[in-house]
Amino acid sequence: MTNPGLEGVVVADTQISEVDGERGRLVIAGSDVEQLAASTGFEGAARLVLAAGGADPAALGDAAFGAARAAAWELLPRLGDALDHPDAMDALRTALGHLRPAAGDAGGPADAVAAIGAAPVVVAAWSRRRAGGEPVAPDPALGHAADYLRMTLGRAGDASCVRALDAYLVTVIDHAMSASTFTARVIASTASDLISAMVGAVGALKGPLHGGAPGPVLDMLDAIGAPDRAEAWLLGELAAGRRIMGMGHRVYRVRDPRAAVLEEAVRPLASPRLALARAIERAAAKVLLERKPDRPLAANVEFYTAVLLDAVGLPREQFSATFAVSRIAGWSAHVLEQRRTGRLIRPASHYTGRMP
Ligand code: COA
Repeated sequence: MTNPGLEGVVVADTQISEVDGERGRLVIAGSDVEQLAASTGFEGAARLVLAAGGADPAALGDAAFGAARAAAWELLPRLGDALDHPDAMDALRTALGHLRPAAGDAGGPADAVAAIGAAPVVVAAWSRRRAGGEPVAPDPALGHAADYLRMTLGRAGDASCVRALDAYLVTVIDHAMSASTFTARVIASTASDLISAMVGAVGALKGPLHGGAPGPVLDMLDAIGAPDRAEAWLLGELAAGRRIMGMGHRVYRVRDPRAAVLEEAVRPLASPRLALARAIERAAAKVLLERKPDRPLAANVEFYTAVLLDAVGLPREQFSATFAVSRIAGWSAHVLEQRRTGRLIRPASHYTGRMP
């Protein structure tokens, strides 16, 4: 029997992360996501996932990520018109394709750090160009979150915004066998290089069923505008056959635990959209329960991603690519692990065409 969504198919043993969809629990490299987001920044979380994938953490000091951002700045003049792509994910995909994979096995960890450093520089440069400004050079002495925000805004972000963005980057760093991670592992399984796996993973993340939802979530908050309009608007969407963005998940049957972490992280920013988002989430959960009583559909990570990234000052066109700025560490960890422990991934298909 075919299983086109591969639900429940286990394709890897992994030490990187574990999702318990029934209980709403996410463990990343041995820590619950709530604890990880409260106890470390992006660099620390990246070190943990890469080490879980088999990299030597000694080569992954904070300075390595700063140096990789500085190296990526040198890449920008070679990108041609890639930064003029209307879509940030297309710009990122093209830019990552310009990174030259290092030769041999050593290429894994070195390429991982290069790709992790390149993503924020490229996405921020894309955003500056789109806004009619000039790209801002990285400051390797800053933390990853602080520098990404600074390169995007053209000035240092408030400390509270940097903290919230850092919490976001930690929270979404890995999520077991998501579609983009699987894509990266499939590419790595052919003994291809890490950079090629990152390019493929960005392509998989771009789709609205995966990482493309937070921009549309913000559009939804804008369209609804006030809590008392939520239910009617949501019912209209369902009647038109559309899905409610930021709701539902392939694995979670309860609220995505990352939604709570991000909801908490955005609280100190006093976003005017937070109260509206909470009201819309409640209304969406209610109408979806009435319409689909057999399929629990609760808020996923993208719901409060939209509120948080908006509150720190990022434009909505940059949301999906900001997800990639974090997840590129998780993808890299999976590629390292796949190269160490995996096997060529080559499933089968069921032929339904004519026989000769
Ligand atoms: N709004 C309305 N209905 C939804 C829904 C949503 N957000 N998510 C799922 N459903 C419905 C489907 O229409 C389907 O109904 P049906 O059986 O009557 O056709 C049922 O719930 C099961 O959905 P299915 O498509 O099998 O689930 P999936 O595991 O493939 O979907 C998502 C998971 C994430 C793709 C899906 O929930 C979705 O599209 N959500 C909105 C986009 C989003 O937020 N993406 C970010 C994910 S982190």
